[in-house]
This record gives sequence, C-alpha cells and structure tokens, in this order.
Amino acid sequence: MTIDIEAARAILRANDRGGYTVPTDRLYPFQWNWDSAFVAMGWATFDEERAWRELERLVEGQWNDGMVPHIVFHAPSDDYFPGPDVWRTRHSVPTSGITQPPVFATALRHVFEIARGPDAQARAARLYKCALASHDWWDRARDPEGTGLVAILHPWESGMDNSPAWDEAMARLTLQPTTPIRRRDISHIGAEMRPRDEDYRRFIALVDLYAGLGWEPAAMWRASPFKLVDVATNAILHKADEDLLVLAEKFGSDAERRRIEARMARRAAAFAGLWNQDRRIYQARDLGTGTVVSASTSAGLLPLFAGIPGARQADELAAELESWLARAPYPVPSTSPLDPRFEPKRYWRGPVWAVVNFMIAEGFARYGHMALAARIRTATLALMRDGGIAEYFDPTSGEGLGGGQFSWTAAIGLLMTDQPTRGQRGL
Ligand code: DGY
Repeated sequence: MTIDIEAARAILRANDRGGYTVPTDRLYPFQWNWDSAFVAMGWATFDEERAWRELERLVEGQWNDGMVPHIVFHAPSDDYFPGPDVWRTRHSVPTSGITQPPVFATALRHVFEIARGPDAQARAARLYKCALASHDWWDRARDPEGTGLVAILHPWESGMDNSPAWDEAMARLTLQPTTPIRRRDISHIGAEMRPRDEDYRRFIALVDLYAGLGWEPAAMWRASPFKLVDVATNAILHKADEDLLVLAEKFGSDAERRRIEARMARRAAAFAGLWNQDRRIYQARDLGTGTVVSASTSAGLLPLFAGIPGARQADELAAELESWLARAPYPVPSTSPLDPRFEPKRYWRGPVWAVVNFMIAEGFARYGHMALAARIRTATLALMRDGGIAEYFDPTSGEGLGGGQFSWTAAIGLLMTDQPTRGQRGL
C-alpha cells in the first residue's frame, strides 16, 4: 500500500510559510507544536534542510522557563480564534500560554539519525538543549508534587481537545469566560465535526483564568480546576525521554543523563496506577477527584509507543482494540465505539487520526504484534488514498473529515511509505 508521494510532498510545500508549516490553510494559520514535530519527520523523508528548519522555527517560541508553547503566532491572521490578543502572553514572538504533547525530542532524534548535512551535529546539539529544557519544564511545571506523571491544565494541552476523557472534569467547571467567544473554526468546516460551543466556553474560561495569573506555572497549578493525568501526554513524554537519552549520550552531561533516567524510572513505575484491568486499557486520572476517568480512548493504547506495558498487557491492549474494530472497521477510533459518547465524525470523540495510528503501530511493532501493526499502517494509507489527505477520518465509513490538505497527515503518509516496517529509525 502506498499513497501519491508527490501529492503528499506538495501539501507540505503548499503549507510552508517560510521555515514553518501550518497544519492546513485558514483553519490553523500558525505553527502548532506537536503538528510540527510530526511534520519535521515528514520533511526529513525528502528535504533535510527543511526538517531542521521546522524544529528551529518552533523553538523560536520557546519560553525562558523551557515551555514550548502549543501555538507560535509567527504572522498575524484573522482566520483563527483565540489569537494572541486573547492569550495575552509576553513572549517576543507571540505564542499561546500552554503546551502540547512533547513529540519534539522524538522528531529531533529521527531527523538527526538520518541527517547527512555537515551542520547536523551543531544543529542537533543546540536543539538537544531546547528539548532538555522543555522536559525539565514538564517536570517542574506539570508535576510539581513529584508523582512521576505530569498533568495537563487545559484540554488543548493534550492535543485531543474534546476527548470524552475530559467530559466530567469540564462539566464541573463553574468558571465563566470574560473574553467574548468568536469562533472562526466553524466558518471553515462543519460544526458537526468540531467541539461544541459549550466546550469552547470552558476552553476560553480556562485561558482567561490563566491569563489573569500571568501564565505563571506555580500559580496555575494552585488555581487550576482542571488537572488531568493524560495517558497520551505521559506516554509521548516517556518516548521522548527515551529519545532524549540517546541524544544525551552524544550531546549531554552525566548529570543530564542521570536526571532523564531517574525521571523515566519514576514515570514507568507510576504508569501502573493508570492501568484498568477490567477495561484492558490505560485511563486518565483526574487529580480534582483523585479517581480514574472511565473513558476508553486511543490515548490508552499509546503507552505501547513508549514500551511501558508488560507483554501480557500488550496482548490485552491488542484484544481490546480488536473489540473496537468489530464495531468500527477503520483503525484506530479515537474513542472506543463501545462507549456511548462515541461520535464518528466529531474531532477527538471518534475519528481516526493518522499521527495516533503511527504511534500505535510503532507500539504494537515494539511488542512483536507485527500483523496488527501492519494492519494499522495499511489501513492508514488506504484512508488517505480513498478519503484524501484529510485532518481525520470517520472510523465507520473511512470518509475524510475536518480540514483538507493536512500537513501532519501528509507527513505520516510519507513516513509510513518510506519506512513501512518500522516507522521510526533506531528503535
Ligand atoms: C484548535 O483550535 O482546534 C486546536 O486544536 C487548539 O489547539
């Protein structure tokens, strides 16, 4: 199975705004954090220089405290809400005030290991420092109590904005936004594929709360009514730490390596608390109630990507996924089709996302579930071939949904075609 390689490359070129790639024209007119990391790996399949630039432009937005923001507003646009005027941050390139899943170090290792340019060492050494500062920030700002697992303070930090895993915590919010909500997303695509207005009211209420605290992480942690230990974020951070450790062998100090190893050991042990044996999947923990969130989502499979589960748990995750696919044949639905909150067309409440499939396929391959990994990769490429290089796909019909000509989907198409058996070098 393959896709039209030239068409996928053309999407990245068309979405290039001068060293950074917008996820798609108009709907997302800036540089997004985790999008860019996947996109850099996509560029690396055919344009090494451009892959480096993607990562370098992202860290133009990095804050002094190490946070890599979820959006870098390199150039103004009226096509998106909330823009810099709502975020009210102080960085010299305007940025949002929260982060997103840290795929950066994984992308950096990937680009470095295939780079041939004479400046690869120097570029990687500089970006290694940025990645390390970002992981240190996660530790301080999002796990200040030293539990081993980080918590997100906004659904947008998970990248999986309206996942059912956030429903209960979001429903408890009593905060009201002070910023008027002027949604632009639903003027670009159908409202039935996007989060609801009530989600946006709560998203912006949290932004207003944190803007009022000057985006100071300790104050945000104390005041936040939304503190969720997201499975995906922790799994991605763990994989990124594994990749950072490899880079640290070359570019880091002994003390840095020990710090990364200690964090990984703490996190690997703490992950046991997120495993739900009855549901055969990892589930988020709500620090507001101290309880596990009863929602089975594709995030719950991502610990495979980081080598967290034991072999028996990996088998159970495979069995759980098979039960989902009996209901919705296109892997991998973002919410279990057995969950009453499953909505096959609404953003993170059901649709298939190529980047998540990439990580899950890598994860199953890591555990020797080669047939399932191959099935996910083949299906992902078939979705792109038949449904277009769309933002996401309906897991019941395969229909392409959301924004079109989508950068990270194109990047995954290139990666899966380039490396059909192992999506990631050096694993
Ligand atoms: C959006 O605007 O939909 C983004 O996912 C927020 O980062």
